[in-house]
This record gives sequence, structure tokens and C-alpha cells, in this order.
Amino acid sequence: MKRVGLIGPADRDELVRLAIRLEERGAEPVFLDPREDAAIAMDPTHVFACGEDLSELSACYVADLALRRPYVLDDQGVPDPGASLEALDASRRQLAIWNAVLERLRRRGPVVNPPRSHDLHGLKPWEMAVYARLGLDHPVTLSTNDVATVQSPPSSRSGAWIRKGLVGGVSYTESFTPPGNQDEAKEALGDGPLLVQERVAGDNVRAYVLDGRILGAAVVVPALADDTDSRRDTHDVRRYELPDSAAQVAISAARHWGMIFTAVDFMIDAASGSHLILECNSAPFFVNFEKQTGVPITGELADFLISPPRPVSPF
Ligand SMILES: Nc1ncnc2c1ncn2[C@@H]1O[C@H](COP(=O)(O)OP(=O)(O)O)[C@@H](O)[C@H]1O
Ligand SMILES: [Mg+2]
Repeated sequence: MKRVGLIGPADRDELVRLAIRLEERGAEPVFLDPREDAAIAMDPTHVFACGEDLSELSACYVADLALRRPYVLDDQGVPDPGASLEALDASRRQLAIWNAVLERLRRRGPVVNPPRSHDLHGLKPWEMAVYARLGLDHPVTLSTNDVATVQSPPSSRSGAWIRKGLVGGVSYTESFTPPGNQDEAKEALGDGPLLVQERVAGDNVRAYVLDGRILGAAVVVPALADDTDSRRDTHDVRRYELPDSAAQVAISAARHWGMIFTAVDFMIDAASGSHLILECNSAPFFVNFEKQTGVPITGELADFLISPPRPVSPF
């Protein structure tokens, strides 16, 4: 019987659903919950973690490594510099050992997704620069902490801008008005660099890619028509047929990052119909999307993990 590792909080909907689909197909899901003491040990022939012998796994899905917070807050909620250094070091070591484990597992079968793709959500300015270099349609983007530059962002097709976190998933996208003078610019940059993007006037689309093909896509409709972030209060998720050109963009971006499975976010520029890529998510939520759209993401993922169509190619 094939054993498939599921790394992440054991109560995460994505893992619970994936476990059911694996069992239905005659495979054994092996939950590896890294929140507790993961107790990792590696030797030349075996890898152990979370009380399991991982050498027996034929594939692995990574939802969340639950890394320790790399800082410590004091009673007032202010970072404690001394204790934070230790926490940062511990968190880095935890990441290093998980990365080593996942690289070892990649010799036996697919790891979805490979460790090198996990950090992308923290590298949004670079991610956008790579889409520009690859020639993939994307919103014009500026990342800066410079007082002069932030006052005159590059031209926007819609004439409006948004700002969002340099690290994905931690804050909402908000509308952005370029500061009119130096003082306003300093205030805008007060809590660090900004990522400013042309505001794309149109629908937000999410497409799931697995192993070089599109599983399905949907338009994410916000409750308020002019909301800058469709996730804040989502009204509806409507199945959508991605045009071939956008499908190719999603597939090429996923391939570029080495993501076997990903959710690719786009904005459609309503005026031109262009699909502008925003990001690839290496460990996306998918259970709600599946319920709302009927795209059988979990079943497809389970099929892939049990019978990957090609042998894996370790380094
Ligand atoms: N350039 C943009 N123009 C208009 N809306 C945007 C733009 N960028 C992001 N959004 C909205 O904000 C949401 C989050 O943006 P995204 O780039 O996917 O970042 P995150 O990593 O935070 O998910 C999108 O789903 C979309 O609704
Ligand atoms: Mg997103």
C-alpha cells in the first residue's frame, strides 16, 4: 500500500480532505503535524519525523511547516531583541532540517511543493520582476522606500494604484494615492518599503495548476463592487474558462518556480481583456474553492500523489 505524507496541522481542511481522497484510492495518508515536537532524525538510510519512518513514504504534500515565530514579544507586545535573536536562530534551524528532510524525500517521490518554492510568498517584489523578465503580462509594479520615487509611481493603464504587502497573504490590498509632497511621502513610507502596483480595473481570477495543466479557474467576486481586495468580503466564486493564453501564463509561471501544484492569481483588465498575473501560491487553500466551484482539486491531487505520471528526477 502506498503511504503519502501530509505535512501540516492535522486539522487543516486541506489535509483532512486529501486524506479522505487518498484512502478512497487505497493509499494510506500519514499525518505529520509539525506543530508538536517534530522529533526529526536523519541518518544515511532513514528519515524519521513526528514519530514516523518517512523512508516508507512514496510522496508527500506540504501544507505548512508551522515554523516557530522568528521573534519574541514582551508583555507589552514589543519585540525583545535578545530573546528574538535566539528565536530567529531556532526558527532557521527548524526550516533547515525540514528542507533537508524534504530534499531526501524527493529522491523517493514527488514532494508537493519542493522546498525551494516555499519562500516565494515572501519575495513579492522579486516575483513581479521575474514575471517582467519572462515576458508574462503583469501589473506595472514599484517596490520602494525612496521618498522621491514613491511620489511618482510608473504610469498606470487605469490611472489608479493599489498598495499591498511585500510579503503575500499578511495584509489586504488597499487603494493608493501617490503622496503629493515629501512629508506625505515620508509618512507613507513610515513603516517600511511599499509595494505599489497599477490598479487593474476588472475581475480577480484564481486558477489551479497541477503538473502542467489547468484543473479549473474561477472569478472571485467581492461583496462591494469597488473593493480593492476580493478576499475581504467575497460575494461569490464563479467558475470561469481561462483563455488559452492565460492558461499558458499560469502553466509557465508554475513551471518556472518548480511548483507541481499552485493557485495562480490574476486580474483581468476589463478594458483590454488581458489577464495580468499577480502571484503563484505554493501552498494554497483549496477546499472552499472546490466546494464553491465543483473543480475536483483534492481528487486530482490524490491521483497525482499516488501515481505520478513520470518518475521523479532527484538532483
Ligand atoms: N494590481 C491590482 N489591481 C487590482 N486589484 C488587485 C491588484 N493586486 C491585487 N489585487 C487584489 O488583491 C488581492 C490580493 O492580491 P495578491 O497579489 O493575490 O496578494 P496576496 O499574496 O496578498 O494574496 C487579489 O486577489 C485582488 O483581489
Ligand atoms: Mg493572492
